[in-house]
Amino acid sequence: MQSYIIEGGKRLEGEIEVSGSKNASLPILASTILNPGTTKLYNVPEIRDTKITQEILKFLGCKVKKHKGKVEVNSKDVTKREIPEHLMHQMRSTVILAGAILGRFKEVTFSYPGGCDIGARPIDLHLKSFEKLGINIIENAGFIICKCDKIIGANIDLDFPSVGATENIILASVYAEGETNITNAAMEPEILDLANCLNKMGAKIEGAGTSNIKITGIKKLKDISYNIMPDRIEAGSFLCMVAATGGKVKLNNVITENISPVLTKLEEAGCRIEKEKNSIYLEAPKKLKAVDIKTMPYPGFPTDMQSVFASMLTIAKGTSVIVENIFENRYKFLTELRKMGAKITIEGKTAIIKGIRKLTGAKVVSTDLRGGAALVVAGLAAKGKTEITNIEYILRGYEGLDKKLRKLGASISIKEGE
Ligand code: EPZ
Repeated sequence: MQSYIIEGGKRLEGEIEVSGSKNASLPILASTILNPGTTKLYNVPEIRDTKITQEILKFLGCKVKKHKGKVEVNSKDVTKREIPEHLMHQMRSTVILAGAILGRFKEVTFSYPGGCDIGARPIDLHLKSFEKLGINIIENAGFIICKCDKIIGANIDLDFPSVGATENIILASVYAEGETNITNAAMEPEILDLANCLNKMGAKIEGAGTSNIKITGIKKLKDISYNIMPDRIEAGSFLCMVAATGGKVKLNNVITENISPVLTKLEEAGCRIEKEKNSIYLEAPKKLKAVDIKTMPYPGFPTDMQSVFASMLTIAKGTSVIVENIFENRYKFLTELRKMGAKITIEGKTAIIKGIRKLTGAKVVSTDLRGGAALVVAGLAAKGKTEITNIEYILRGYEGLDKKLRKLGASISIKEGE
């Protein structure tokens, strides 16, 4: 197991480039299955999750060529219709591949992706939506077998604006007969990126980015190239890392409007922010002010920013109240922050953070992707040395994190595990 070793207390300053979006790359990589030709993707972040997804594409029979951020997928000879259990369990979001395989072949077999450290992560909304599209679903010994003669467009109202379910409905209905209308669809920017990519291939998707999406079935897609959008959660994470050290940073290659709720909260916490269309400049105060956060579906404050933001607030002046409304178990990292002196009480989905003067470095364990990033925030701000173990979680979602932080003056290195 690898660890980060961080010597904290250094004020971070400088300029960095934000990488391509993990949560746009995964459904867009899945969408390459729909086109029985070649799709070229650019700005794909080189992280564990995109690597696993490419492995699964190869398992299915795709030819995948990769050079740095460019990934070329030829799906002409896809032969398999099932996602193997060991690959399903490596990453939750593999369930998105099911929608793409279904969309092209009208059959797919996969196993329950299983929960993870932030919650049960059920897929009931995905399965109910597939049934509405005329797909028969049989569950047998932990496997889910989906099959139909043809996918028929339908009206689907989601109980909850699930990102994954919205993406899966789009992927499964690109070639459907007739129209599919999703109401209460998720509005996250990554869904708009998926729709933009599919429309460039020749799909007919209207309303992505709003809560009403219409997909009109088409017959054929064409070979295209597409540039993945920047990662809004990586951008927000860097702003919190720098703000926690009282520093200043210019982020390039960011879509500023995608993280406006985070910028508003950073300004409330006392940061000075200058916004351009594709760049953000942040200057932190000597002492941050406490703020209250409630996570909501987009365009509300993103749940993926809750952990890193909460970590920054442990050294703010005053008491902050965080309410996590999306996942039922996204506070595990707070136990690790307590080892560094943070004053936190948890009551159900509410975390109360009483700001202290300074955190103290300690040995802590990453519990999940964003929880691990939260420990990096704390280690950068803390006095002394912090060792963060299980950083494989963090490497899932942040491309070259230690390299980018060293560019801002951080003292961070990777220690190979025992
Ligand atoms: C996507 O996960 C993201 N992952 C998550 O980012 C993000 O936190 C989440 O959307 C919310 O924005 C990817 O895009 C790969 P959901 P997803 O379906 O699709 C419940 C990160 O750190 N639900 O919107 O799994 C679910 O349990 C990751 O980058 C059902 O009940 O999220 C959760 O409480 C973490 N039934 C809520 O909805 C379902 O069928 C939101 O889940 C599906 C979801």
